[in-house]
This record gives sequence, structure tokens and C-alpha cells, in this order.
Amino acid sequence: MSQYTRTHKDSGRLYSKGIRYFPDGNTRSAAHFPPFAPYMTHGKGCYVYDEDNKRYLDFLNNYGSLILGHCHPKVVTEMSRQLTRGTVFGAPTANQIRLAGLICKRMPSIEKIRFTNSGTEAAMYAVRLARAFTKREKIIKIIDGYHGTYDDVIYNGEKRVTPHGLTGETAKNVILVPYNSAELVEKIISRHKKQIACLIVEPMLGAGGMIPAQSDYLQRLRELTSANNIILIFDEVLTFRLALGGAQELFGIRPDLTILGKMIGGGFPIGAVGGRSDIMQLLSEEKKGVFHSGTFNGNEASMVCGYITLKELTKKNIQRLNALGDTLRRQLFEIMGRYLRGIKITGAGSFCQIHFNVDSSFKRKQTHFFERLTPLFHIMLLNKGVFLSKRCAFFLSIPMTERHINYAVQKVADVLEELKYITRKADIKLK
Ligand SMILES: Cc1ncc(COP(=O)(O)O)c(C=O)c1O
Repeated sequence: MSQYTRTHKDSGRLYSKGIRYFPDGNTRSAAHFPPFAPYMTHGKGCYVYDEDNKRYLDFLNNYGSLILGHCHPKVVTEMSRQLTRGTVFGAPTANQIRLAGLICKRMPSIEKIRFTNSGTEAAMYAVRLARAFTKREKIIKIIDGYHGTYDDVIYNGEKRVTPHGLTGETAKNVILVPYNSAELVEKIISRHKKQIACLIVEPMLGAGGMIPAQSDYLQRLRELTSANNIILIFDEVLTFRLALGGAQELFGIRPDLTILGKMIGGGFPIGAVGGRSDIMQLLSEEKKGVFHSGTFNGNEASMVCGYITLKELTKKNIQRLNALGDTLRRQLFEIMGRYLRGIKITGAGSFCQIHFNVDSSFKRKQTHFFERLTPLFHIMLLNKGVFLSKRCAFFLSIPMTERHINYAVQKVADVLEELKYITRKADIKLK
């Protein structure tokens, strides 16, 4: 921590200014960590640079939204051209149809689509559509599933809801179930089936630990929801990148609704909700059903850069990136397992996360030192020029090659050696 503070003096100065205006000196809760996050100045390819002129290999990629990395030449060219033509018109455009067409082609379950400004909004509309369609109010949500910050999906079983700004009504309507357990869903559905509007699930638990779905779990959810007229919502905000048609293609499952976001905006704000035509038609202004609007919906920056990004994301590129992810997970497991017990490396395709000292159900068994291993590891990697999420999650990007993976693994090895030294001095057994 002291090394970090010493080498991030300019970021520290900006932090002191920032806390005058922002809680935590930051305008995003997830991006804050003690003592302060590095204040970034620019990015290029798979690198980002901070105010102290420090360069980092960027494994955060704005939490997975920059799959082409920073300033991809095609994105820069097309965006610059678009800036001379206008950014948003409060009217439909051909660029909206072009991006919608590409998404619907890749994800055939999306018969109709609407753009939003974030994944949060997309989740909100998906749940609202499901309620309007089924005329039911309850939803099933996964414990630690993350679908943005809208009330119904951010609720995670908190005992007292008002300190979080939520209502008792939300807690009453959201039924929480653990991931990868279809048995409990079956029980709940048999008890409440006439009240449940939808089940929302990520094909890989993202912010909840990058934990992939077990092979028959999603299939079972599809059967249970279909049999009881419950709308199945897949949150593919992250997992769309796993295959041309997203995780639903890999699992061979057709959800009723899908929400998308992040990379489909090519680095600009976006979200999308799409799926069965009969459900999506409830958004038609002519039907006076669910009202959907947004000043920046379908803005040209997101439409143009999103399209270029998806076009660059060819099958070949996806396969290469997924293989790099396999290499990263394998190498991390090998090296970390040598030093630490209870290490788990999770993820799929180009996602990866390190878990310290957890048991097989991902329950933390840490005490003292081990409780602090995640933030410690994170800051030690920052000191070594590797930028990743504070949960120690990695999101790979297209400009990365084997060389970058090897570099990151080498830095992890260096951190482990330092940890060994520190813990030996403090008489803590690492393994
Ligand atoms: C799986 C998933 N769904 C939804 C969201 C919310 O998207 P946004 O941050 O654009 O609101 C996120 C954001 O991290 C996410 O990972």
C-alpha cells in the first residue's frame, strides 16, 4: 500500500480534489478501492496510462466493454467520421437498424430488440416486460447474480432493505435462489408458479465470481420455465462474447428474452433488451403497453462503434481470445497452486477470476491475513503494472497475445514471491 501511494502521487493529489465532489472521489462504486484508484489519462490497444505516467497492461477493459481494447483504428476512424455528422437526432436512423440486424442474426432468439443506455436499464425493461406479459409480479433471481443497479435485480437478500434505499415490496417480490441449483427452482416454481413472472439468470455468474453454469442447469431452467409460462431472461451482457451467438448458442438454449450491453456499444454507453416478438411488441407505442424511452437510446456513437466492434469479433477472433483465456486460467492455477492453498481460478472463454482460500462451494474460509489477500494481491499487481478488477477478475481483449498473458503470469509469480517473503517474516504459513 505504501509503495502504491508513493508511486501514485499525482493520482493521490487528484483523489484529494475528487473527494470534495464525489463520495470516495469516484463516480462509480465498483471502481473505488483504498487508498484510491489510479486516475487514468488515456489508453491504447491493451494498455492504459495514469496521471503518474505509469503504464498498465489492461485486464479490466472497463469491465469487459472494451473487447477491442482502447482506440481500435477502425473505431477511431468511424467515430471521427460520425462526429462530423451528428451524434443523436431524437429520430430513428439506419445505423440503429444495421446494429440491430447484426445482433438478431447472431442471436436468433432475438426476434425484436430495443436499445437502452445501460445493461441496468435493459434488465429493468426485461423484468417489466415479463410482468406485463404474464400479469404476475414475482421474479426469481440468483443470489449474487448481477444485472445492474435497478431495485428488483440489485436486491440480494439484505435483511433490512431501507438502509439500501430498497422497499419491502421489492424484497417480497424477489425470490432468491443459489446458482447452479435447479432443484430449488423446481420447488419454488411448484409453490408459487401462478405468481412468478420471470427468472433472470447469467449463463456465467459474472460479478458473482465468474462461475460458469453447469452443463444441464440452464437446460433444466428452460424446461421448468416453459412448462409454467414463466419468462426466461438470459443476461448476456458479459457472455455474448463467448461465441458468435453468445452463451445461448453454446448451450443450445433459446431464452424468451435476452439482455445485452457493454461490448455491443464499442466503448460507448449501451444496453439492449430483445427476444420473442409477442413479448417485445408490448413496447409498441401503438399498443399503449410498456412505455420505453430514453434521450440517448440508439445514439449514433454507440450504434456505429458497436457495429464495428461486433464485425471485428469474428468467429476466429473469438476462438483465439477464448484460447488465450484457457491459457491464462491454466497458467495461473499452476503457479498459484504452488504457493497458496484453497486457490480457485474460475471463468470461461476470455473471462478469468482468482479466488483465495475458498471451499468447493466458494464460501470464504479466510481469517485474518487471508481475508485481506484479494485486495492485497490486487494492489500488488497494480504496483507491477497489471490493471484488473478489485475482485481480481480479468477481462481479455483482442489486442492481447500469448506474450501479454505470459507477462501477466510472470507478474503474478513475482507477487507470489514477495508474498512468500512477507508472510515468512510475519510467521504466516501460505501453504
Ligand atoms: C451481467 C451484467 N448484467 C448487467 C450489467 C449492468 O450493466 P450496466 O453497468 O451497463 O448498467 C452488468 C454490469 O457489469 C453485468 O455484468
